[in-house]
Amino acid sequence: MEILIQPSAEAGCLLAAKIIARVVREKPAAVLGLATGRTPLRLYKELIRMHREEGLDFSKVTTFNLDEYVGLPASHPQSYRRFMDDHLFAHINIDRARTHVPDGMAEDLLAECRSYEQRIAAAGGIDIQLLGLGRNGHIGFNEPTGSLRSRTWIKILSEQTLRDNSEVFGDSESAMPKHAITMGVGTILDARQCLLLAFGPSKVRAVEHMIEGPLSAICPGSALQMHPRAIVLLDENSAAGLR
Ligand code: F6R
Repeated sequence: MEILIQPSAEAGCLLAAKIIARVVREKPAAVLGLATGRTPLRLYKELIRMHREEGLDFSKVTTFNLDEYVGLPASHPQSYRRFMDDHLFAHINIDRARTHVPDGMAEDLLAECRSYEQRIAAAGGIDIQLLGLGRNGHIGFNEPTGSLRSRTWIKILSEQTLRDNSEVFGDSESAMPKHAITMGVGTILDARQCLLLAFGPSKVRAVEHMIEGPLSAICPGSALQMHPRAIVLLDENSAAGLR
């Protein structure tokens, strides 16, 4: 793991945008693995700026998002498909047909999981996978104790995740879906490069566990210790617990 500690989350997001932009410039038909959540918002804003002001070209890029809530249609304001449309896809020149988010409304969810894996493989695999980190150490929606070799699957969201994400559902855990379809840890580890962002004091313990170990399914993020090309971008707050 390469650990880069930046003075602020803002600086971390700008650096992450540079890393992703470089992948796209070197390989215009790159396959990007993307994440939702609060962490990458500033990064997506910067990619949009780079597209508008520097001509960063997404026309041949393919994307695969990490996860989606089960039971939310794409049109739902809190669906991850909608999040990606609103915060990135609508503002860059990407071909929507090349943007993939798992279908949380699929009638046969297990078939959707298998098909997602097949689509990633058919695209040639993921060149760079962007990740956030849950306060409980999750990556994607791979909650603690899930298999570190898992492939795209359905996960039950943990109490911690329900609490952390309920804010956008009007602070109501009961309104929040309880399941998600997510790339597995094994799927994530197959990416040729991983770029994980974790900022702020709420991530201190998860960051410490992810980086200093032990490697354990209790902290799915610790699986990145096994990845040959993983960059972890922190700010001084999230890095405060490191030795
Ligand atoms: C989002 C995802 C999650 C988030 C994590 C951190 O697609 O897969 O693992 O990255 O929950 O969320 P934020 O960034 O809101 O702190």
